[in-house]
Amino acid sequence: MFERTPMIAGNWKMNLSLDEAVALVEAIGSGIGNVSDVEVLVAPPFTHLAAVRGAIDASKIFLAAQNMHWEMSGAYTGEISGRMLQHSGCTHVILGHSERRTLFNETSEVVNLKVRAASFLGLIPVVCVGETLDERESERTFEVIKEQLDLSLDNFRADQMMPTSTILAYEPVWAIGTGKTATPEQAEEVHHFIRLWIEQTFNSGTAAQVRILYGGSVKPDNVKTLMAEPDIDGALVGGASLKSDSFVQLIRSQKA
Ligand code: 13P
Repeated sequence: MFERTPMIAGNWKMNLSLDEAVALVEAIGSGIGNVSDVEVLVAPPFTHLAAVRGAIDASKIFLAAQNMHWEMSGAYTGEISGRMLQHSGCTHVILGHSERRTLFNETSEVVNLKVRAASFLGLIPVVCVGETLDERESERTFEVIKEQLDLSLDNFRADQMMPTSTILAYEPVWAIGTGKTATPEQAEEVHHFIRLWIEQTFNSGTAAQVRILYGGSVKPDNVKTLMAEPDIDGALVGGASLKSDSFVQLIRSQKA
């Protein structure tokens, strides 16, 4: 079986001052020491990216932005391009987070444009999907996830090729910031569905290599049971990534 390297990613959302962000990443860097069996990613706000990059060892901690525009440059007041993210030291970019989808009306078609631009530039997209509580309760979870995957990754489908470096994240909307974690069984059921979708849409080799992270109230005390599931390859963490103690603990305790 293909061994996928686990990943623990911190999505800092719209939190932390510049000084706090630099102090946090320095504390994470020293806290994790020479950890080598897990990839660590942090996603600060745009304004903190360059300073955070300057404060970390790029071989130990990868840097992501939380969003980007799909055009390379131009008259798009207030937007940030993928190339600008690369100039700030980013290797990854989170795309289609549920907060962007629900609060900023970002559709899967827009996510697809962003995924295409990121891939063109060589930025690794972390593409998020997830159902709302309403959708889960009306038993539409798989239908919603399939539609989000079909549309958000439409360009890869057209090419009949998805780069194996692509990272997917399953974040049930009802579990984000609520303290309600999906049970390992609930999460695995959807992760497995996503892996089968990759296999059916592309091929089994791609399905075996693409990492699928779980997000939604991941904490040091539940990360291990979640990651013990065969199709859960890591965590995309909000709240618990904002304190070095809990984030370092997550990284250290992820092993099954
Ligand atoms: P919480 O870990 O705070 O639930 O946030 C999850 C998330 O949205 C990560 O992208």
